[in-house]
Amino acid sequence: MSRTLDHTGPIGAATPTDRAARLRSTWHAAWNEGAVDALDDLLAPAYVRRRGPAGTPQGRGEFKAGISAVREAFPDLHTEIEDVVEDGDRLAVRWRSTGAHAGAFLGVPPTGRRVEVSGATFARFEGDTVAEEWVTFDARQLLEAIGVITTGHTAAVDPDLVRGVHRRFITGVTVVTTDDAGTPKGLAVNAFSSISLDPPMVLVCVQRSSATHPALHRATHLGVSILAADQLEVAKTFAGKSDDKFAEVLWTPGEHGTPLIDGSSAHLEVEIGERIEAGSHTVFTGRVVAAHHTDRAPLVYSGGGFFDISRTAPLPW
Ligand SMILES: Cc1cc2nc3c(=O)[nH]c(=O)nc-3n(C[C@H](O)[C@H](O)[C@H](O)COP(=O)(O)O)c2cc1C
Repeated sequence: MSRTLDHTGPIGAATPTDRAARLRSTWHAAWNEGAVDALDDLLAPAYVRRRGPAGTPQGRGEFKAGISAVREAFPDLHTEIEDVVEDGDRLAVRWRSTGAHAGAFLGVPPTGRRVEVSGATFARFEGDTVAEEWVTFDARQLLEAIGVITTGHTAAVDPDLVRGVHRRFITGVTVVTTDDAGTPKGLAVNAFSSISLDPPMVLVCVQRSSATHPALHRATHLGVSILAADQLEVAKTFAGKSDDKFAEVLWTPGEHGTPLIDGSSAHLEVEIGERIEAGSHTVFTGRVVAAHHTDRAPLVYSGGGFFDISRTAPLPW
């Protein structure tokens, strides 16, 4: 996809590859060894770190103090960088941190519990240094592990009850795809929604355990094929785990390179914007950059079953 490894730039400026290597080694020093001053070479003096619309922006000093506080509470903290994607002066990092809660944190005395938090950081370089970063992670993973909040297994509402509610909600079935350096990847997704028409934006929710997830995290674009009523076999293929799902279907690359399933009811190509970590899933939002629809009836999914909407009677209203 449109990832750049452009080595041109002002003399003395870091090349993209240097940036990724420097970020990896600096993160290792700061997060894994506690050498937070290493960040002074990577982060601009006026560096700003942002965390979601509600988060208070942090400067370089506050960020360094924050890392030290986390390391005091989790002395064996280890952050692993799972993926780095470069695009011009931007760098996207997918990471996972683990550590045992051995010191007071957010007023909570040590619980000894092992905590795992994963997320993504998007850095904007100006020359050699990072001017700005946006970070997204699911803080509930951390807060729940040390007992600050209670969700998940001990949720206020029985998960089976919630599942039963979701089974009453009717959706279509999409295949969400991406081109992973020449290899098509995709999965069946019904957590697809329009966000806005002006500008046209959509979202899809993809479980982090999906084999397609890392490719989507690396991608600049994703494709959405809204399956037609006669594509039940396609839905089953993409809901499965085959290594080569695309060998079993006919597909065509869209104008932005995403694999689109032939014979679908409609297609979209989406330029990925935000990747928001939420519970077990990542919410990918994005801007629609290509759209196409046909008069083929869409496949319908409800209560664990598939339906052909063209065989239902419309209600007068
Ligand atoms: C009708 C239907 C809807 C699904 N919706 C989603 C979804 O919205 N998000 C998701 O992550 N998985 C969803 N799944 C499950 C994935 O398609 C399934 O786990 C698949 O095996 C993942 O493939 P992968 O691991 O090769 O990426 C859905 C499955 C079906 C049958």
